[in-house]
Amino acid sequence: MKKISWWEPIIGDKEKILVDKVLKSNFLNDGELTAKFEKKVASLVGSKYAIAVTSGTMAIYLALKAVGVGRDDEVIIPDMTFIATANAVEMCGAKPVLVDVDPETLTIDMQGIKKAITKKTKAIIPVHVSGRPADINEVLKIAKENNLFVIEDAAEAFMSKYKGRYLGTYGDTGCFSFSPPKIITTGQGGIIVTNNTKIYQSLKELKDHGRPNRGTGGNDIHYSIGFNFKYTNLQAAVGLGQLFYLKKRMQRMKKINFLYRKYLNDVKGIKIFDLDLENGGLPLWTDALVEKRDALDKFLKEKGIHCRRFWFPIHTQKPYKNPDKNFPNSSKLSSNALWLPSAFTMTDKDVKYVATLIKDFLND
Ligand SMILES: Cc1ncc(COP(=O)(O)O)c(C=O)c1O
Repeated sequence: MKKISWWEPIIGDKEKILVDKVLKSNFLNDGELTAKFEKKVASLVGSKYAIAVTSGTMAIYLALKAVGVGRDDEVIIPDMTFIATANAVEMCGAKPVLVDVDPETLTIDMQGIKKAITKKTKAIIPVHVSGRPADINEVLKIAKENNLFVIEDAAEAFMSKYKGRYLGTYGDTGCFSFSPPKIITTGQGGIIVTNNTKIYQSLKELKDHGRPNRGTGGNDIHYSIGFNFKYTNLQAAVGLGQLFYLKKRMQRMKKINFLYRKYLNDVKGIKIFDLDLENGGLPLWTDALVEKRDALDKFLKEKGIHCRRFWFPIHTQKPYKNPDKNFPNSSKLSSNALWLPSAFTMTDKDVKYVATLIKDFLND
């Protein structure tokens, strides 16, 4: 039986050569390669600055801190996201205010944002789910009218373009993740991009004990309260190696999504979300709404094919409990949402095989 994974990271020879160099250099800490990786990511997405940190979650946390989110502030986030988005807000001592999603995209609903704004609101975090853009221009408009910061959670949207610009570069900051199920991975890791020099300086201090520049650790001047979110040369070596395969992976991921849509377009019982592939939209994972989701997932698993069910809405999780009636779309749709196998290792034949099985199951 052929096994098909939902996702499969690949580490190649480039990474091994670069990691070996770092090991031989005897400087494993955040250093030259980290700076090189930051520069490379910034130039890839067209951003002035990039700051590498330990994870996507910490990228969001530090971005919030850098724009001054703190105790008693409110931050608007979508109800359908990975729980890290909410937890990053909590870490600042602020309150995540959940907003329902748009059923067409499963990204944050604009009317919901408008209703959720109070005197305490300080920022909005739109989440670009699997590379699919939230209505970012509208978010920016609402933010401007209400004097709010926009922190893009682009953990799943590295290198995905929307209207000629990379996601993550629209807001005051954008946050990417390099955990294993991402287009490039460094085991763990994240990066914050920004064009704002003041935010950048603040991020540098937050990341490294309040020092704008690392000294000896002895007679350093600490300008502010900062922490330790350094991203090591070792991780950066892996990241720089991974970037060698970026273009090929992007092409593959687009093709996989294209084929799924082609094969399943007219099949009843499944809807694959739209994404503007021709203008640079990059589907990290292909997601779908499926009427008989759990039955399909079980059927495919028995055939050796692994899908990933969507997150439970944040409002159903114990730390953030809130009644279903406040979130009609996420309450209804989360149990239908499924990520199909999307590994960039999949061949065209693999996609056809999975799509045929899905078709057979749903037509049965
Ligand atoms: C939407 C979203 N936000 C935030 C994160 C957190 O990123 P990380 O796992 O790198 O901390 C993830 C996870 O990958 C995510 O999917």
